[in-house]
Amino acid sequence: MASNKAKMILEKDFKIAEIDKRVYGSFIEHLGRAVYGGIYEPGHPQADENGFRQDVIEMVKELQVPLVRYPGGNFVSGYNWEDGVGPVAERPRRLDLAWRTTETNEIGTNEFMKWAELANAEVNMAVNLGTRGIDAARNLVEYCNHPSGSYYSDLRISHGVKDPYKIKTWCLGNEMDGPWQIGHKTAAEYGRIAAEAAKVMKWVDPTIELVACGSSNRNMPTFAEWEATVLDHTYDHVEFISLHQYYGNRDNDVANYLALSLEMDDFIKSVISIADYIKAKKRSKKKINLAFDEWNVWYHSNEQDKKIEPWSIAPPQLEDIYNFEDALLVGCMLITMLKHADRLKIACLAQLVNVIAPIMTEENGTAWKQTIFYPFMHTSVFGRGVALNPIISSPKYDSKDFTDVPVLESTAVYNEEKEELTIFAVNRDLEEGLHLECDIRNFEGYQVIEHIVLENDDLKKTNSAQGTPVEPHTNGNAAIDGGLVTAMLPKLSWNVIRLAKK
Ligand code: AHR
Repeated sequence: MASNKAKMILEKDFKIAEIDKRVYGSFIEHLGRAVYGGIYEPGHPQADENGFRQDVIEMVKELQVPLVRYPGGNFVSGYNWEDGVGPVAERPRRLDLAWRTTETNEIGTNEFMKWAELANAEVNMAVNLGTRGIDAARNLVEYCNHPSGSYYSDLRISHGVKDPYKIKTWCLGNEMDGPWQIGHKTAAEYGRIAAEAAKVMKWVDPTIELVACGSSNRNMPTFAEWEATVLDHTYDHVEFISLHQYYGNRDNDVANYLALSLEMDDFIKSVISIADYIKAKKRSKKKINLAFDEWNVWYHSNEQDKKIEPWSIAPPQLEDIYNFEDALLVGCMLITMLKHADRLKIACLAQLVNVIAPIMTEENGTAWKQTIFYPFMHTSVFGRGVALNPIISSPKYDSKDFTDVPVLESTAVYNEEKEELTIFAVNRDLEEGLHLECDIRNFEGYQVIEHIVLENDDLKKTNSAQGTPVEPHTNGNAAIDGGLVTAMLPKLSWNVIRLAKK
């Protein structure tokens, strides 16, 4: 087999930062079949006494998702959280103007918190800064986090939840820069309401951490100016600024598609610069970190979504069926985020079940894994520890929108406690395998325990309820000799090389 060559050096001391587990977060919105028919399907043979599908919870546990953003998304900008608590029979049906569907409110805050507990995840709760404001936001914090002895904490207790949830991470609205958002605002309007909401939310519970909305994507006309203005208003009150980005291979140009993670990298660097510009302007000692709280591939379902009947309940919206090339880009995006572990502390794969998701369900049927399930699972399970800063020399190529795209996209994570070192790598080459030589110098006594490979001859191959032809195997040929790891990374492949001290 013809092959390219790439070299890499890994040193224990070349540390970027300890990885915050919240970078392996995900997202459940009241949208499509994410909640109803996804996590919740009473009557399904796998449903527990709460109506939660056990097969779905098992898959979420396989992904080891530590944090789930909820309840939206665009949905949250029209949501009255009070509609979703108390006796289910008394909850109102509402028009959800964001997705033009009907929301039954059968699932609300307490039900979702229960589900998250069963899935071993914390919740990243978003408040509505579209139609609502600081009052609803502070009341929700009181309802969720205050122990007792006040109206909303006692209301929670009367709803059967004695102990406060102590939700740590909160989003101040969603995509408020987007004209499609219910209650869309200018940067100054949003900056002011976000700062005031943040202030009182923290007066209720000073232990919470807050995410201010950044731009909905890097191509928004207001990008950069939006972040600067919002942070100017909110700097002293928040811990994070958010980023959102979705990609698609609309022109069927694979070389260019797989290079889109370079754009993501640039986006992250730009937001860090803007945050640090405001830090300098304010002579502040505080550093604002990044929450990439919506990211994924999203484009396959765009056309079919135009045919959804308005005001239906839980229709199949945003049900992208992912192919093999999407899994490769998702792998590149994960590697890119790990390279920023010093500033990027939260990320949410959008979303988790049925809606642009790694997990799909059939009504009254099975749950199955999309192609993108695997790179996400591998990084979440094996990517805990310290993100290392690898020195890489790789062949490069040019594509329609990018120059000098490295054929090898790679990074490594060192788990000091478990004495494990994991290399994540994508070979972007369309034609040839990539011979990797990785010098692991001061990792003495480390041996290869596994070389997982996700590869497929057909870039457009998808999984389905009927079968999962896109699945990883462990027949990769990584080996180690005298501190030098060698491996053949097949053309267009996702690789996980796991080493441990013997
Ligand atoms: O994740 C789907 C939608 O994408 C979210 O509701 C919104 O925030 C974004 O535009």
